[in-house]
Amino acid sequence: MDLIESIKAKARADVKRIVLPEGDEARTIAAAEAIRGEGIAEPVLLTPETIAADAARLERYAQALYELRKAKGLTREQAAKLAADPMYFGMMAVKCGDADGLVSGAVHSTGDMLRPALQIIKTAPGMKLVSSSFLMECPDRSLGENGLLVYADCVVNPCPSAEELAHIAIASADTARTLCGISEPRVALLSFSTKGSARHALVDKVREAAEIAHSLAPNLLLDGEMQFDAAIVPEIGESKAKGSPVAGRANVFVFPDLQAGNIGYKITQRVGTASCFAVLQGLAKPCNDLSRGCSVDDIVNTVAATAVQAH
Ligand code: ACO
Repeated sequence: MDLIESIKAKARADVKRIVLPEGDEARTIAAAEAIRGEGIAEPVLLTPETIAADAARLERYAQALYELRKAKGLTREQAAKLAADPMYFGMMAVKCGDADGLVSGAVHSTGDMLRPALQIIKTAPGMKLVSSSFLMECPDRSLGENGLLVYADCVVNPCPSAEELAHIAIASADTARTLCGISEPRVALLSFSTKGSARHALVDKVREAAEIAHSLAPNLLLDGEMQFDAAIVPEIGESKAKGSPVAGRANVFVFPDLQAGNIGYKITQRVGTASCFAVLQGLAKPCNDLSRGCSVDDIVNTVAATAVQAH
């Protein structure tokens, strides 16, 4: 069974309520129908009209949003206006337990979806930050985990510190395990240097991240700093990083910053012809972003993954 089919099967086993705030967008409407048809989740399409017709809930969400953000300067009037926006109404539905997760981004930019998620849903207990994993399925099944590569962070954190990189590495290993069914995540922290082959402050940051991650999760197979070829090609891993627990056979790849990660996933997708989709990790409840160029299938798949994260 390929990755997406296994995620859909897990989603069907325990049907969750997933909010789609872009409820008057054509692909989203078609996706909701497919999601219902396939029994993957219970989709809730939001539009300004459905929200206006739900006055009692709107009032409750406006008050709860005000309470949540008043210390940050949000007024009661601003909260009422924001709560009527489908993105914020959807986030409040998840926050208040009326829905299990949210998927958006067919119309909104990543930042427009991330900001309310970070402000309202916030990080899960024990999590330091929100980040993302891109699940890349490559035609060459010899790569990574039977062709599956987990890339992080390609969406959220522009310039992670060494400590933040360490948290991204650990969260991505967890996503590999729980969502992708990878029983042994092997994490490579990527750089332009392998085990001291180059000297630079940027390399030092990645090495420090590996040390922090190792101290936080001593049982996790993890190594760095490492070049991408040393991480993925067994012979190169053997020659450049002999004795490494992950070199040459990594299945989770942590990029040093958002520029590298975002460029890296798009190269793998476009030149490497990998199919891919992203999930956010570290949020208290699952919310996921779509690309504005997404297809109906992309929305269905992301809703399935969101439902599994809600389990
Ligand atoms: N984890 C947890 N909380 C965070 C994080 C994080 N990584 N980043 C910000 N926050 C919190 C802040 O603590 C703050 O909370 P508070 O208001 O309760 O105090 C809130 O989020 C807003 O923080 P700001 O620093 O004001 O964040 P800002 O609004 O400037 O931006 C954002 C946050 C949207 C995530 C920004 O970092 C961003 O734009 N990232 C890149 C998104 C992007 O464009 N990605 C590439 C395209 S996606 C693609 O190609 C698939």
